[in-house]
Amino acid sequence: MRWGLLKILVVLCLGLALCAFEVGTVWAVSNEDCLECHGDPDFSTELPNGKVRSLYVNPDRFKASVHGVNEVSCTDCHADLSELDYDKDVPHKVPAAPVSCGDCHDEEQSAYESSVHASFRKQGKKTAPYCFNCHDYHYTKHLEALTVEERADKFCLKCHDPMKIHAWLPEKKLHFKHVGCSVCHAPETGGEVALRLYDVAKGEFLSGEKLLKVLKVDYDNFAKHFDKDGDGKFSADELSQLVKVLRKNKIHAVVRGEFVVKYDPSLHAIVKDKAVKDCDACHSANSSFMQKVYLVVSKKDGTAAKYPVDNKALSSIYVSDFYAINANRVPWLDIIGVLIVLGGVAFAGGHGTLRLLTIPLRRKDK
Ligand code: HEC
Ligand code: HEC
Ligand code: HEC
Ligand code: HEC
Ligand code: HEC
Ligand code: HEC
Ligand code: HEC
Repeated sequence: MRWGLLKILVVLCLGLALCAFEVGTVWAVSNEDCLECHGDPDFSTELPNGKVRSLYVNPDRFKASVHGVNEVSCTDCHADLSELDYDKDVPHKVPAAPVSCGDCHDEEQSAYESSVHASFRKQGKKTAPYCFNCHDYHYTKHLEALTVEERADKFCLKCHDPMKIHAWLPEKKLHFKHVGCSVCHAPETGGEVALRLYDVAKGEFLSGEKLLKVLKVDYDNFAKHFDKDGDGKFSADELSQLVKVLRKNKIHAVVRGEFVVKYDPSLHAIVKDKAVKDCDACHSANSSFMQKVYLVVSKKDGTAAKYPVDNKALSSIYVSDFYAINANRVPWLDIIGVLIVLGGVAFAGGHGTLRLLTIPLRRKDK
């Protein structure tokens, strides 16, 4: 009798163990499980200080984020919450463990470790940002298609006012509009010149989608379409041809340029003392920033296709226009001057306010 009971118990236990095993493997927590509660816009909790903290995660925005698109799940980040117990009010442990972005982004993490922000945090300054104070966490986006201004607005300008500092820098507004913060503040990474097509009539940058639709090409054969000499780079003439074709399609575009940091994990090593201060680093003909020039075409998901441009394209236009227009040139303003002057040419017909780094190419239309 006793044995029988024991046997039953043993069988039961084995069964339970197996069941538990099944539960553990088959019933992995899905995003939908989490969103059953956290997908409700009114889902919130009251904090001890009486304030209400929203616990809502917008399912559509999450799905459209870089992580949603790449199938990173709730529990990939909230790894400590991978089991739910529905017998409890709160089916998982709280507080949840802090999320470590660096578990997946180790290169960004190690560059970040050597940043001013990490060192301020180590000293206990909690307002200095970690990854998601800059990037957001549930709705993280790609940034490569963004302009210098858009990047600074979204990130650095949330906490710093660059106009109040950098007393040594003339033309601050102009610099911050066209030189990304990280170009100077992540000097090890280095920068490049990003050229974009700017729709003058609409007053906005031309989206890649629209550009390719008008040209009836796709991202893969866009550059080849114009690469008449087959060198894999846009030359001055080829850029000019592109602008001309757009004109024929009633889009009045000019090429605008800016200095952006190379899109690389090392850009996270933001420094102060070693930040670029030397004017010649940019305002000289052999500036390293001028070595890489790309035509940037945005993609819908926020990434960008980058097509190499022969950096001589800048200076060859320069040679033909620059001396004629600006006889009193200042040597260290040479290259930049070129671009500015070109901007001047592009807008000579009344758009005098738009300037810098605008490569006209219009004169070639005539
Ligand atoms: C890319 C990593 C990542 C993913 C994926 C992620 N989270 Fe989060 N989540 C975070 C971070 C980081 C925080 C903020 C922690 C902090 O402020 O200390 C957070 C906070 C939260 C909070 C607290 C409320 C808030 O918004 O601050 C809830 C609730 C939450 N996440 C639920 C979810 C759910 C549900 C999913 C899946 C739909 C999800 N998370 C996916 C990183 C992530
Ligand atoms: C049955 C409802 C329910 C489900 C399902 C649920 N949660 Fe929660 N969650 C809560 C409640 C309630 C709180 C608030 C607890 C509190 O503030 O005491 C909470 C809080 C959180 C927090 C904030 C915790 C903190 O540190 O303050 C995170 C992060 C979170 N949930 C993530 C998740 C993830 C990820 C999933 C899926 C694996 C999930 N939740 C599934 C009810 C739920
Ligand atoms: C579970 C792994 C994982 C975690 C944890 C994670 N990510 Fe990601 N992240 C990815 C994947 C996968 C991609 C998409 C592939 C890519 O672009 O590298 C991505 C892409 C990104 C991008 C876009 C990169 C680009 O090329 O534009 C950013 C920004 C980003 N993550 C920030 C964060 C932040 C901030 C956190 C912490 C809140 C975080 N990630 C946590 C896996 C993760
Ligand atoms: C969430 C707020 C926040 C964001 C976003 C942010 N910072 Fe900071 N930053 C701080 C705080 C806080 C400090 C610590 C010094 C202080 O209190 O001013 C700091 C310090 C610095 C310092 C060093 C200042 C010193 O006194 O040594 C530099 C340089 C800097 N940040 C540049 C940047 C750049 C560039 C960006 C954008 C890529 C950026 N920060 C984004 C909050 C922020
Ligand atoms: C042309 C290069 C350059 C650009 C562009 C630039 N910075 Fe700086 N920044 C510096 C240098 C060099 C310093 C070193 C401190 C000094 O002497 O002013 C500095 C100092 C700082 C400091 C610390 C100021 C302090 O009081 O100690 C912050 C914060 C900062 N920059 C933020 C930014 C932000 C935000 C942007 C983008 C809007 C930006 N910087 C763009 C070169 C630059
Ligand atoms: C001070 C703000 C700030 C912090 C903190 C920060 N980022 Fe970034 N991150 C940026 C900016 C700005 C860019 C885009 C390039 C640019 O304009 O400087 C970027 C680009 C990226 C990219 C795409 C480029 C690449 O390949 O790395 C990823 C991925 C990324 N960040 C992840 C992270 C992770 C993970 C952390 C934490 C370890 C982090 N970021 C911390 C501001 C920040
Ligand atoms: C990281 C690169 C970089 C550094 C460093 C830099 N500049 Fe500039 N600078 C630019 C760019 C790009 C422009 C073009 C802005 C425009 O004209 O629209 C510019 C524009 C200018 C202009 C405006 C020219 C005009 O005619 O409108 C002056 C003046 C200038 N810089 C002086 C300086 C001085 C002086 C320093 C050193 C203290 C310096 N810059 C450091 C990139 C840089």
